Amino acid sequence: MPMDPSPAPAESDVTAAVRAHYAAVAEGARAAAEAGARPAGCGCDGTCFGAAVYPLDALQDLPAGAVAGSQGCGNPTALAELREGEVVLDLGSGGGIDVILSARRVGPTGRAYGLDMTDEMLALAEENARAAGVANVRFLRGRIEDIPLPDRSVDVIISNCVVNLSADKGRVLAEAFRVLRPGGRLAVSDIVIRDAGPGEAEIPPAVRRSIELWAGCIAGALGEGEYRAELRRAGFEGIEVEEVRRYAAEDIGEPLGRTLADSGLPGDPASAAALAGRFASAFVRAVRPRDADGRTAPLETEG
Ligand SMILES: C[S@@+](CC[C@H](N)C(=O)[O-])C[C@H]1O[C@@H](n2cnc3c(N)ncnc32)[C@H](O)[C@@H]1O
Repeated sequence: MPMDPSPAPAESDVTAAVRAHYAAVAEGARAAAEAGARPAGCGCDGTCFGAAVYPLDALQDLPAGAVAGSQGCGNPTALAELREGEVVLDLGSGGGIDVILSARRVGPTGRAYGLDMTDEMLALAEENARAAGVANVRFLRGRIEDIPLPDRSVDVIISNCVVNLSADKGRVLAEAFRVLRPGGRLAVSDIVIRDAGPGEAEIPPAVRRSIELWAGCIAGALGEGEYRAELRRAGFEGIEVEEVRRYAAEDIGEPLGRTLADSGLPGDPASAAALAGRFASAFVRAVRPRDADGRTAPLETEG
């Protein structure tokens, strides 16, 4: 019997597809902002991604380009309980919405870094930060699998719908652990795959292999248990994976149905809807343990 082909696409294919996808998203966001588009609010427009997941008052004082560029699946700045003076790092910062919100929370004595690999997103984020008038931000070009910051130099890592996009999540979480100071927190919004309940659909390998669904934050999602295991392996403790919103056909059914049909599987609306329900947005929390001597202060900082 022939072996099932690898369920995951190659890392280089994932990186190229994700970069191309989000370069186009950045350009689209700029056009939408110029046209004056505003989010309708979670549920009102039939989807629950992007700026729609934030309370409308959180969006009031943000530049239109930051709102239009929002591509997350949660609001990690609400989860992170940021304090004055803290150093925050946003993994996959996109158009910069969470970096700007974090910079305002940590104030002038703190700093918010955004890390992204897509030049178009970095340019949009820089423009948005300028328009927002926040000075305590810095955007870094690079990959979340290889964070360009020193060991133990960050108080809080946030991220919004990005860890699922990496083809090497173990490396991302090991890097997050490395740059966090002992006692530092990870507070991430992400897509996860719920454990299958009785009679619920399994995720077909064709979905796992789809580059389109990977770039759309679906195919690369970890199971809840896998997420916990990867965090434990990286050294984290205090791990929580809390389901926030279960997805439905109107969120992701259309690309799921297309992928199923393209693979010769039943791609009718009911099959796509059943599969969509296996995916959820989640809050993921974890802590880097303190050193044995209880030390928590950053040991190294960047100028
Ligand atoms: C779904 S968008 C989320 C953007 C932002 N967090 C938000 O909430 O709007 C994903 C972003 O992560 C970036 N990204 C994806 N994979 C990455 C990687 N391996 N390293 C660095 N950036 C990455 C993309 O360029 C894109 O800007």
